[in-house]
Amino acid sequence: MTGRIRNQRFAAKVVEAPEAVDLIEPGANVGMSGFTGAGYPKEVPGALAKRVAEAHARGVPMKFGLWTGASTAPELDGALADVEGIDLRLPYQSDPVTREKINSGRMDYTDIHLSHVAQRVWQGALGKLDVAVVEVSGITEDGRLVPSSSVGNNKTWLEQADRVILEVNSWQSEHLEGMHDIYYGTALPPRRTPIPITSPADRIGTPYLECPADKVIAVVETESPDRNTVFTPPDENSERIAGHVLDLLESEVRSGRLPGELLPLQSGVGNVANAVLAGLGAGPFDGLTAYTEVIQDGMLALIESGKLRMASATAFSLSPAAIDRFNRDAAAYRDRILLRPQEISNHPEVVRRLGCLAMNGIVEADIYGNINSTHLMGSRIQNGIGGSGDFARNAHVSIFVTPSVAKGGAVSAIVPMVSHVDHTEHDVDVIVTEQGLADLRGLSPRKRAERIIANCAHPDFRPALQDYYDRALRSSFGLHTPHLLGEALSWHQRYVETGSMRPAAAN
Ligand code: COA
Repeated sequence: MTGRIRNQRFAAKVVEAPEAVDLIEPGANVGMSGFTGAGYPKEVPGALAKRVAEAHARGVPMKFGLWTGASTAPELDGALADVEGIDLRLPYQSDPVTREKINSGRMDYTDIHLSHVAQRVWQGALGKLDVAVVEVSGITEDGRLVPSSSVGNNKTWLEQADRVILEVNSWQSEHLEGMHDIYYGTALPPRRTPIPITSPADRIGTPYLECPADKVIAVVETESPDRNTVFTPPDENSERIAGHVLDLLESEVRSGRLPGELLPLQSGVGNVANAVLAGLGAGPFDGLTAYTEVIQDGMLALIESGKLRMASATAFSLSPAAIDRFNRDAAAYRDRILLRPQEISNHPEVVRRLGCLAMNGIVEADIYGNINSTHLMGSRIQNGIGGSGDFARNAHVSIFVTPSVAKGGAVSAIVPMVSHVDHTEHDVDVIVTEQGLADLRGLSPRKRAERIIANCAHPDFRPALQDYYDRALRSSFGLHTPHLLGEALSWHQRYVETGSMRPAAAN
């Protein structure tokens, strides 16, 4: 027995990855651990991809359903997508190879709210989960599983799958033991009871995942590191966006709408969201808490500076440098960080009760405040909705952030009508770009349009947006939400045809 596998029944099942993947039948639905580049299995996916490639080379079709927590890493998503070994992928992904396969029609993808995945599986609405492949950081003497650097949907995978393959990763810090809170109290209606979290620090479960040894068909050992992308340091635009968000929060505190230590923060993925956290580090707020999905670099820095008292999440999403810092001193973070299953970290009931301040990045917003977080030009998926919908609809204040232009200035992030809708106007309180902030709370659509165009649009696109709106006011079918239907998506069409949203004369 190695140090990390402290139970004889599990130790007896140790095999190499190629042997383990032979136990997964072609066509199976496989639930893998992993949430951002943290806690995904490191050995089995690569071995499975090799098996798929060999089958395809012999002319034998082989694909699997791949369910995860959220995005993973090139060794999982990238490897399996590259050999076209994935039939249907769910939920959130952000891998370039996977994205290309989805957008070229070679892979199916269903983008589900992250809090919904577990209950969909419990409902049986996604079909049968055949095999779970879950990374853990250890197995205790009495056969309980010490979760890894992400929890994601692992509890559900271990409960719902017929057979389980465990990867025990000794690269993960042994001090992760005790950092998790796995809640076993969820049920399907009509047997549901309230989730008893009233503060981000509340522990309502156990630090361990459970899985009967009988179900475990293989244990694979690894010592490979997590792989997360490096955040680019905040640029001038991100810092300006962060500044506007801080101004908003300060004004909410001054007006008595928020307490001095704010309410639990939720911060989405992406560089802009990370920059907002960096801005909070330099801001006036202390005693902060977070009830969020991922602990990213900015959040770790807030913990280190003492500004953030406590963070509840489902995964780490740290750059290699931040992982090193965390692993060197993991024990010290144990009282300040809590990792939960994603159905709890993103649970609408808890998000609403705690009053989270939600901050998420977007692709584009329209002049009425509808948000597209996922699709480029209405048809090409970028990543997915992730947890943004879980938080946006239920947040105390729902803030969306984006630079006002993309693609080197060829694309406006503020458009007449979004080309895909992830968050409707009803779930969007505040939109922020480097140009400024539009607080939309309580405004009618026309007032929203005036504020978004004036405060958020880039000066290069503001006149064209104003012109669209003015003409819509003159000839729209109705004046509640004025539109020129034949023109509403023409900016996107122009980009598809010319590579720029700018009117021909301006190109
Ligand atoms: N039109 C066309 N392309 C656009 C665009 C727009 N309006 N806005 C962004 N893009 C492109 C960028 O050019 C970039 O492409 P590239 O990598 O080829 O250069 C890509 O989208 C990512 O944009 P970037 O500016 O790097 O943004 P980001 O890292 O801040 O991420 C999202 C922005 C929207 C992709 C990201 O926040 C996301 O996936 N959000 C949805 C999920 C979510 O909110 N999760 C958090 C919940 S907890």
